[in-house]
Amino acid sequence: MSNEKKVVIVTGASRGIGEALVEAYRRKDYRVVATARTIKPSGDGDVLTVAGDIGDPATGPRVVAEALERFGRVDTLVNNAGAFVPGPFTKYTRDQYALMLATNLNGFFYVTQAAIEAMEKRGSGHVVSVTTTLGELGNSKVPSALASLTKGGINAATRSLAIEYASRGIRVNAVSPGIIKTPMHSPETYELKATLHPMGRMGEIADIVGAILYLETASFVTGEILHVDGGQSAGR
Ligand SMILES: NC(=O)c1ccc[n+]([C@@H]2O[C@H](COP(=O)([O-])OP(=O)(O)OC[C@H]3O[C@@H](n4cnc5c(N)ncnc54)[C@H](OP(=O)(O)O)[C@@H]3O)[C@@H](O)[C@H]2O)c1
Repeated sequence: MSNEKKVVIVTGASRGIGEALVEAYRRKDYRVVATARTIKPSGDGDVLTVAGDIGDPATGPRVVAEALERFGRVDTLVNNAGAFVPGPFTKYTRDQYALMLATNLNGFFYVTQAAIEAMEKRGSGHVVSVTTTLGELGNSKVPSALASLTKGGINAATRSLAIEYASRGIRVNAVSPGIIKTPMHSPETYELKATLHPMGRMGEIADIVGAILYLETASFVTGEILHVDGGQSAGR
């Protein structure tokens, strides 16, 4: 297979933001490697699906290896897979802690390490991670220290990696959503969740996809945490 087309890896691609990203990158004629635990095979020859738990340290390197074997290159990694377990700090269980660390931090670390290794060989690449404004700003109505711990860690690593790789052609950015209408939230909760944003509404999947596609072409932008949160990060 010729390898002129750009290749993006999207984690958490079975539904929600990740599923929409697969379609959006295909519209830009990228080849896509889509991964999630329940991802189904695709009828599109330019989409490779790889099933796996991103919290397992073996999954990320396997996804990158399969991308290289099938399509020959990795241009972009979108770290989109994630878990969200809100709750009072002292009530968090060991299982919840382990799940959040595995999905959000292992799920960032191992696939990013393997992808950057591949990008470094080509001298170019882009890593963009989906975090949350709760990673930087607490919200009294949504106690969620495990989201802050894990997604805040990704925000910090985004800046750190942006600097480490700035002179080597690899950009590293993040998109920080407010609350977005995805399968993560049931429609009965939309009205209440809308009030948690200064703009008085929840975000749409297209808002996040648009931000990621902007960063994809923003060749002078690295280390950016792009807030797409209806004003949450600006204050209350
Ligand atoms: N929706 C929001 O309000 C919101 C707000 C802030 C940040 N975010 C972030 O945005 C990203 C996407 O969220 P979403 O709302 O689209 O979520 P979603 O609808 O719940 O989808 C989550 C995706 O992640 C995958 N995933 C979850 N755990 C996984 C694991 N252990 N291994 C592999 N894949 C896993 C799921 O696939 P499988 O179940 O098939 O594995 C699914 O494709 C997440 O990182 C989330 O934290 C969302």
